[in-house]
Formats: sequence, C-alpha cells, structure tokens
Amino acid sequence: MPTVKIVNLQSKSIHCDDKRESLLDILLTATDWMHACGAKGRCTTCKAKIVAGMEHLSPRTRPELQYAKLNKLREDERLTCQAQVSGDIEVKVPKETQLPHLTYTE
Ligand code: FES
Repeated sequence: MPTVKIVNLQSKSIHCDDKRESLLDILLTATDWMHACGAKGRCTTCKAKIVAGMEHLSPRTRPELQYAKLNKLREDERLTCQAQVSGDIEVKVPKETQLPHLTYTE
C-alpha cells in the first residue's frame, strides 16, 4: 500500500491502494491541490517537487517532456495529473502553486 507524504504541508500522509492512480487523484483525496486545466496536461499548475521515490512514478508523459524542454518542469518535478504512483513517495508543493488558504511549512 503506497504512501504519499506532503512534506511541506504538515507532513500529511496519504495511504492509497495498489491500483495505479494519478498522483493528483491521490492528493485530492486529502487536500486541495491546484489543477487549472482539469488534469489534461495543458498547464503546469499541478506540479510537485519529488523529494523521494521518483523511481515509484511512471515515466514522464509527452506533455511533461515538452514542458521540461521549455524549462517549465525541472528534473525533480512532475505533473501530478500525469504521474502514476506505484510505491512510497514524498513531495513538496512548489512556492508558485501554493494555495492561499492552506498553511505550508516552507
Ligand atoms: S492539471 Fe494541468 S497539467 Fe496537470
């Protein structure tokens, strides 16, 4: 049973079942998370910095590769609507996509 931990949001931990779900779907079960294009891979507002467990995410999709080429997605970042989770990971919400009604620790 994979666990997703949001380290800069009170280290909130989300336990998910083994079926492959998008990281965004998992995050939305426990918190608000920006996703302006509706999970279609057409924006970067859903991105997360992956602190640990990058190897437990599916390979980058075409939209992610395009955003990386445009320097809008760093090596340690993923679009949460595109990445599927298969094991434990730790993420941080990037400063630019933090929501005003939530309290982040960094
Ligand atoms: S919600 Fe727009 S790319 Fe993920």
